[in-house]
Amino acid sequence: MAVKRAEGKWRELVYIDLLAGPGKGIDHDSAREFLGSPLRALAVTPAFDRLFFRDLNATNIRTLRKRIPPTAVHRVDLAVGDCTVEAGRVVARLSERTLGLAFIDPEGFEVKLALFRALSKRPIDVLFLFPSAGIRRNLAQFMKQPHTGLDDLMGGREWRELPIAKLAAGKRVGSDEKSAFVRSLIPLFRARMKTLGFRYQDEADPIMTNEKNVGMYHLLFLSQHSAGLTIWKNIKKIGGDKQRPLF
Ligand SMILES: C[S@@+](CC[C@H](N)C(=O)[O-])C[C@H]1O[C@@H](n2cnc3c(N)ncnc32)[C@H](O)[C@@H]1O
Repeated sequence: MAVKRAEGKWRELVYIDLLAGPGKGIDHDSAREFLGSPLRALAVTPAFDRLFFRDLNATNIRTLRKRIPPTAVHRVDLAVGDCTVEAGRVVARLSERTLGLAFIDPEGFEVKLALFRALSKRPIDVLFLFPSAGIRRNLAQFMKQPHTGLDDLMGGREWRELPIAKLAAGKRVGSDEKSAFVRSLIPLFRARMKTLGFRYQDEADPIMTNEKNVGMYHLLFLSQHSAGLTIWKNIKKIGGDKQRPLF
């Protein structure tokens, strides 16, 4: 990538965390503090040129601001705001020669399809924690409600036509059926992403589990360029500690 930068093919590398949190979390099992995504991204080398951190919660943004090392302040842009609205605002400030990585880490159904549409306007790769557990938990409710967070995330009502969704509308469904529903929903979401231009996706999306080994999220990788997917696949092989694979 450095060679292409020297050739002027791109000028700036940015990281966009639209649901950034306060910068640190507490591990449920060990009660130990761990670094959250924004502070981890700040420590990456080679460094991102600019990092955009957003959160709806003003206290989180205030706390995060205090945790940014003075040496990194000039690279960071922080603001309170809704992730979908902020996606559009951040992208509007990026030149066409910007490359980016967006990390989308929701608690539930706060992310709308329009967020991905905004990111698709620039060559930004996306890591999205698809809320599988929340979908399983809320499926029966969602089928009864005329408009839900899942409609917003999927960008329409098409998912309601999936056979298992129809089944859930009429009777109580078991956990296997709910998991099957999530498995059939992800290809639909992927297809929506392809229509936005995210044609390169990691088909072997890992399931992120909680301490009881229950699948909570599917980690989806989306890119508009084949090089993005190649880089991601290599990162998965190397892993965080540079010895083990990431998953
Ligand atoms: C799962 S946490 C993010 C954790 C973070 N990635 C980390 O590694 O520490 C989700 C965050 O999204 C924020 N949030 C909730 N709804 C939001 C919205 N509509 N727009 C932006 N942020 C939101 C919450 O305040 C919370 O801090």
